[in-house]
Amino acid sequence: MALDLTPEQKATGKANFEQAAGDLARSGKMPSMMVGGKDPKKPNRRDALKAGLAAGAVVPLSAAVYYGYESWEGNEAVKTALIGCGDEGGVLVGDHNPEYNRIVAVCDIRPSNMTRIFDGDTGPRKGLNKIYGKDEAKDIARYDNLSALLADKSKLGLEAVVIATPLNTHDVIAKACMDAGLHVLCEKLMARTISKCKGMIKYAQDKGVLLSIGHQRHYSTLYAHALEVVNAGVLGDIKHIRAQWPRNNSWPFTASAAERAKFAPGYKEPYYRDGWCRPILKEDADALPPEKLAELAFGSVNEYGFKNVEELVRWRLYDKTGGGLMAELGSHQLDASSIILGHVHPLAVSGIGGKFFYGPGRNDRESDDGVFVTFEFPGKNHPKAHRGGKDESDIVIVTYSSFNTNSFEDYGECIMGSRGTMIISKEAEVYLYKEPEPGKKDSGGRDTKVTVTGAGGGKPAMEATSTWGGGGGAAISKAPAASAWDSAVRGYRTEMEHFAYCVRKWQEMRQPVSYEKNSDGRLKYEEIIPRCHGEVAMADAILALTSNMAMAKKERIVFEDAWFDPTKADAPETKHGKKA
Ligand SMILES: NC(=O)c1ccc[n+]([C@@H]2O[C@H](COP(=O)([O-])OP(=O)(O)OC[C@H]3O[C@@H](n4cnc5c(N)ncnc54)[C@H](O)[C@@H]3O)[C@@H](O)[C@H]2O)c1
Repeated sequence: MALDLTPEQKATGKANFEQAAGDLARSGKMPSMMVGGKDPKKPNRRDALKAGLAAGAVVPLSAAVYYGYESWEGNEAVKTALIGCGDEGGVLVGDHNPEYNRIVAVCDIRPSNMTRIFDGDTGPRKGLNKIYGKDEAKDIARYDNLSALLADKSKLGLEAVVIATPLNTHDVIAKACMDAGLHVLCEKLMARTISKCKGMIKYAQDKGVLLSIGHQRHYSTLYAHALEVVNAGVLGDIKHIRAQWPRNNSWPFTASAAERAKFAPGYKEPYYRDGWCRPILKEDADALPPEKLAELAFGSVNEYGFKNVEELVRWRLYDKTGGGLMAELGSHQLDASSIILGHVHPLAVSGIGGKFFYGPGRNDRESDDGVFVTFEFPGKNHPKAHRGGKDESDIVIVTYSSFNTNSFEDYGECIMGSRGTMIISKEAEVYLYKEPEPGKKDSGGRDTKVTVTGAGGGKPAMEATSTWGGGGGAAISKAPAASAWDSAVRGYRTEMEHFAYCVRKWQEMRQPVSYEKNSDGRLKYEEIIPRCHGEVAMADAILALTSNMAMAKKERIVFEDAWFDPTKADAPETKHGKKA
């Protein structure tokens, strides 16, 4: 994303972001930060005094304080089952906090992943044995199908489930769990169609349970800080966001003889190294002939089951089971873009996508291997921006691309305003730059350090303070000490902790979860409903799935308000889907 920035320029951008956040926090415009000092008007004064912060000093609030669930002491962990123990199930296990979510059972139809969820893997997938200790992990119950798990609900004392299964199964599994009275945290994308998303929302309402969807950026303190800086207006008039997730899956697939010995005969080996097209393991193929697969997972020919083990393992390649690049990657970044633009819905989408690289015999697939989409979003003065604006021409263009053949740039979002640019890179770092002013030397650009003026009273604006000399380590050594944002959580842990907190709060209230709304359209109990609840997540699904339809039909599709309304049956697939 930060394509041609030197290390010094990156350090400048990072320092600028921290400076701007600090300046805004001191004037009460950064609810995510704690400010030291005696002024009672300053935000979070009590916490700052408790933390012994020097006057004027600022630090980011912890995620628990920011999301309002710091008062956990005395609560028992929520008894939770994980359904789907694959790649993402492993990440969630690796990041969960057993003090909030106690995993008492796991459920997966694939034997190899059942082993992996206990043993762990490389990177973030630490495994249950490591987290709970081997002795304690032995008590975690194992199920090879959902019905058996739900039949043992009372025996297990189950209160909630985390679902990390392929997209086509989300709504059917979530509904069965909600039917059993369980609270549900289901991975993104919410469901394979918008009608199914609407069904899930209605179920959560009717059953009075929590439904949270795993778009983790809603729980990233890094994004929260970035949003507050954007909201302060220092970027000026935002007309364009460029988002992307490039990756290179074009290298030939290789395997050692020992690895190859584990592959099932009769299935084509992947041609390229591609996480979406994995080898089929003998262990899984032997355990899951089609009739057994059908018995364990919703039949074989309907939309919820898998016709064979290949479809189960490589589910992202097929239209029935996955939603392609837009569902898997684009949904996260469009989610981020719509958060940055004030939780607005888009106006229209068009794009180009296709199988430009993979082809018959070479990791063949139904899903596209390259996409480039353009969204028209309402700017802040547009009538659809909910701010009483009247300017129909105030449009923000958001472009999104993802290709499988080049990974030179990092993934991220670049927000371009008339007074500044913000780059959010890899969910981990934020860089901020000021636009240079005409005729004013060193008044902006990549080498310029900034402060934010007017934060207290007038309109906050970036002002240049100095320019780094650039050139080598000397300049780098002048960079500020490692920032508090370096350790910013990606959101998984926070999302699960807050979910557990909401479960306990509703139990304390002794009433079913209520999604009742105030007259302003906001949830009456929004503090104790997960941030990415059904209606929010459905909007992300609409973005991702409608852009697929626009690319398939080579059309510009205009979004309809009724699609975003869970009480109306209207859905984009009815009008623009393949069969429409
Ligand atoms: N939030 C994120 O950043 C993020 C990242 C990656 C994946 N995901 C999402 O997580 C979900 C899972 O993705 P993944 O990469 O882990 O896929 P995966 O194929 O690695 O794992 C899915 C697991 O679900 C199991 N499964 C399938 N049907 C089942 C059923 N009926 N009952 C029980 N288990 C069943 C499979 O056997 C497999 O082990 C997807 O929705 C994906 O989009 C989210």
